[in-house]
Amino acid sequence: MNLTKINLIRESFALVLPASGEVGLLFYRNLFTLDPALEPMFPKDLTQQSAKLMQMLAAAVNLLDKLDDLVPVVQQLAKRHVHYGVKPAHYKTVGDALMNTLQQGLGDALSVEAFTAWKEVYALLSETMITAAYPEVEMA
Ligand code: HEM
Repeated sequence: MNLTKINLIRESFALVLPASGEVGLLFYRNLFTLDPALEPMFPKDLTQQSAKLMQMLAAAVNLLDKLDDLVPVVQQLAKRHVHYGVKPAHYKTVGDALMNTLQQGLGDALSVEAFTAWKEVYALLSETMITAAYPEVEMA
């Protein structure tokens, strides 16, 4: 991931941060619309959950230029997710919900280039997580 893309990610995430409470809740609304079966996996009150997700995304965005530091953090995160009942296929749904949320949250402020860079980041995160937590799954 080159510096131009990292900067696009950082600039767009900085625009989201002031409204991170609402954006986090919008993410879960989008997620449960895409797959209502996921809702019972989460606590009813999503305020804290949403804050944890946004903090983890902020940490990832910060460490995009230090992948050696980021990778072990997301590998551990992925292993915890196995205990939450998360399956490899869920990562695509979460990625789609994330992209929908960024589009809705940022509107025209999300350039095509930034959108593409976010897709790339999520692919990197989710592939790292799936490989760490489900060694038997072959990534495409
Ligand atoms: C890049 C992808 C993801 C990130 C950054 C992320 C982030 C987090 C964080 C920070 C937590 C708090 C607990 C902890 O740190 O272990 C958490 C919990 C959780 N996540 Fe994720 N997650 C991701 C993908 C997923 C996926 C694909 C699912 C599938 C539905 C999922 C479902 C859950 C559930 C069920 C919990 C526990 C809720 C509870 O407290 O009962 N996450 N996630």
